[in-house]
Amino acid sequence: MAKLLGGVGTSHVPSIGAAVDHGKTQEPYWKPVFDGMQAAKKWIAQARPDVCVVVYNDHASCFALDLTPTFALGVGSEFQPHDEGYGPRPVPVVKGDPDFGWHLAESLILDEFDITIVSDMTVDHGLTVPLSVMFGQPDEWPCKVIPLCVNVVQYPQPTGNRCFNLGKAIRRAIESYDADIKVAIFGTGGLSHQLQGERAGVINAEYDNRWLDRFVAEPAELARIGHTELLRETGSEGIECIMWLIMRGALDEHVKVVHRFYHVPASNTAYGLLVLENK
Ligand code: DHB
Ligand code: FE
Repeated sequence: MAKLLGGVGTSHVPSIGAAVDHGKTQEPYWKPVFDGMQAAKKWIAQARPDVCVVVYNDHASCFALDLTPTFALGVGSEFQPHDEGYGPRPVPVVKGDPDFGWHLAESLILDEFDITIVSDMTVDHGLTVPLSVMFGQPDEWPCKVIPLCVNVVQYPQPTGNRCFNLGKAIRRAIESYDADIKVAIFGTGGLSHQLQGERAGVINAEYDNRWLDRFVAEPAELARIGHTELLRETGSEGIECIMWLIMRGALDEHVKVVHRFYHVPASNTAYGLLVLENK
């Protein structure tokens, strides 16, 4: 049967992707950020997942306001990087796993999560930057990817608790897949940041670090935090952190922290990175 190796949480700051693409990772601004990623890269290089379920959000790239699925699962065989205004990122095409994708869709929907099934979609920085964080700049991504896109952009977003419970359903789906594959799950986005409006530039390191503590130690309680608190404390885009709760729900209650890193600022955003394994 398929086996879940662990979970990765990472922010998806677009300029981290640009730093990789343009050879700037060793410049003084970026070096501390990329140094802080090394232990996570080492973990995944050793764990060698066959497939990563990447929980991410689209930023009105593939899905705009005319079509806003709450949860959209990519079951196609490949996903091209989206052109976000400067041409598509020069990264490999993301290869899917249709058999596993359809199994996840079936298992989740019969488990009463009404997932939108998508066979043809592009993926923006929300998905490709986390891959660059973990895998650097390879000719081909070293694993298949199942994109799970979450609406965190357009009100009403799903609750943190709904996300946490979806993670539990994903765990059941992974462990009922009759193939000997190794799977990792990524929860991406966040942490505190606001890119627009009067409070543009909000970063709340104290709140983020406390949130990370609780994410590890008491995720079910953390998942109860409402959107109003997240917006107030972490800014309008800080709400992206609810996607990490899907990853956390897929893991055991008690987890081992393999790596934790936090850095401000990375562009306008607080950069967070966490690698967890079941104990
Ligand atoms: C930035 C962060 C994001 O999460 C995003 O989607 C776009 C931009 C930033 O910090 O610049
Ligand atoms: Fe974002």
